[in-house]
Amino acid sequence: MPGFKTKTFVLFLALLVAWHELDKRACAKEKPPQRSRTVQGKSLFIANGCLDCHTVGKKGCEEGVQLDDVGKRRTREFLKEHLRDPESHVKKNKDAFHGDPSLMPNPNLSEKEVQLIVDYLVTLKR
Ligand code: HEC
Repeated sequence: MPGFKTKTFVLFLALLVAWHELDKRACAKEKPPQRSRTVQGKSLFIANGCLDCHTVGKKGCEEGVQLDDVGKRRTREFLKEHLRDPESHVKKNKDAFHGDPSLMPNPNLSEKEVQLIVDYLVTLKR
């Protein structure tokens, strides 16, 4: 049968192209890579002006309250409570804050933001 080989070859090529297109579509459907919770927490920490009053490493306000080892000193629960309502948290934990009233304004974070920032804070263990 003349031309049979050519037809088969063209069909084969068409199949290859179709397969390749399918592959591309499968690739585009993939979820974009998720930034880790720690990285998201760090961005929120910066975006919410926490460095106006705190230091981490060499960043932030020089005479601010340092948080370099806060992940070693405090528990996750302690940090969450502080971020939800610093004033009542400090009142409730006089020993931890030397009996001084809180000078930290309520950052008004959503519960999700609190969780993400705490995920970042617990990694600070200088
Ligand atoms: C206007 C200044 C100010 C800002 C802004 C501020 N803080 Fe504070 N923060 C303080 C002060 C002062 C303390 C010490 C305890 C107190 O007064 O409440 C403190 C305490 C803390 C503590 C407890 C530290 C410990 O040793 O237990 C954490 C955690 C904390 N802040 C996180 C944050 C985060 C996260 C943000 C941003 C969302 C933030 N702070 C914004 C002033 C501030």
